[in-house]
Amino acid sequence: MSMFVLIGATGTVGRQAMDLLLQGGAEVAAVTRDRTADLPDGARPVVGDPSAPGTLADWPQDAEGILLSPRAVGPAAEELLALGAARGTRHVVVLSSSTVEHPAGRRRFVEEFRAVEEAVGRSGLSWTFLRCADFAANSLAWAPQIRSTGVVRGAHRGATTSPIHERDIAEVAVRALTEPGHAGRAHVLTGPDSLDQRDKVRLVGEAVGRTLAFEEVAPEQVRQAMLAQGLPADVPERLLGSLADYATRPGPTTDTVERLLGRPARSFAAWARENASAFAERSLPTRSSARPEES
Ligand SMILES: NC(=O)c1ccc[n+]([C@@H]2O[C@H](COP(=O)([O-])OP(=O)(O)OC[C@H]3O[C@@H](n4cnc5c(N)ncnc54)[C@H](OP(=O)(O)O)[C@@H]3O)[C@@H](O)[C@H]2O)c1
Repeated sequence: MSMFVLIGATGTVGRQAMDLLLQGGAEVAAVTRDRTADLPDGARPVVGDPSAPGTLADWPQDAEGILLSPRAVGPAAEELLALGAARGTRHVVVLSSSTVEHPAGRRRFVEEFRAVEEAVGRSGLSWTFLRCADFAANSLAWAPQIRSTGVVRGAHRGATTSPIHERDIAEVAVRALTEPGHAGRAHVLTGPDSLDQRDKVRLVGEAVGRTLAFEEVAPEQVRQAMLAQGLPADVPERLLGSLADYATRPGPTTDTVERLLGRPARSFAAWARENASAFAERSLPTRSSARPEES
């Protein structure tokens, strides 16, 4: 039975990839810093910090492949890949970003993804890069505002991307880990529909059966609100830099998911329907009290 090491196993994509691998009969080593992490039956925990690979003493011998989250490994990619290679791991699939190929946002964030890809290239392992558009799940950040007011206050309403359903990323990742034909390939993965911020809010509204509004506010106001929530300064930097660029030039739309999986990519509308409960309000504003969408 093949073994796969998941770096970022408890993340949005990692969890879904883990489920798919286990359902397919593979063995999974789930790397997590949290020794109490809730892992599915059959997953083998490897407790340690991927950004400090020396802590990963339980890395399995002769794993077939690694699913690698650049965020989780950070600047330690080289050291972590050396550990994998020393333990006989053969292939690595990187959850990279479409910005590597279609630059948008602050340069240093793009460089972080590029640095991980370059470390993989130097590692001697065979590799596949999944250069993903923004995850549909990023919209969950709007859930508190939608639940409480029905109005999303954000910057750059015209920022346009083709958000990808994280399940599609996980399915492609599992194919790239388990099937031949992906070595040395960089796939740009996006959803099927190019949507601006108001489109996304409208589709969430359709999913929850409410009229929601997007209200444009100054980027600085968004930054201050995020800092007041206790988020590190990098988070608004990353978000606002990307939105500013995507308002000027839309992010890419590709048919790669459909070509690789043999069926259409899941839509943002479908994602919103599946996740409607996260946006369902406790104290509901009525349709008439929701603020009108800007035109
Ligand atoms: N969101 C997007 O729009 C987008 C777009 C393109 C690419 N990506 C990339 O896709 C990858 C997967 O994202 P994801 O949202 O599924 O999950 P993620 O952010 O990679 O997090 C997955 C897990 O990694 C661990 N982790 C997170 N930060 C860490 C850190 N600083 N040091 C060590 N471990 C850390 C956490 O697990 P434990 O707490 O269990 O240790 C977390 O649950 C990320 O690298 C992200 O940069 C995201």
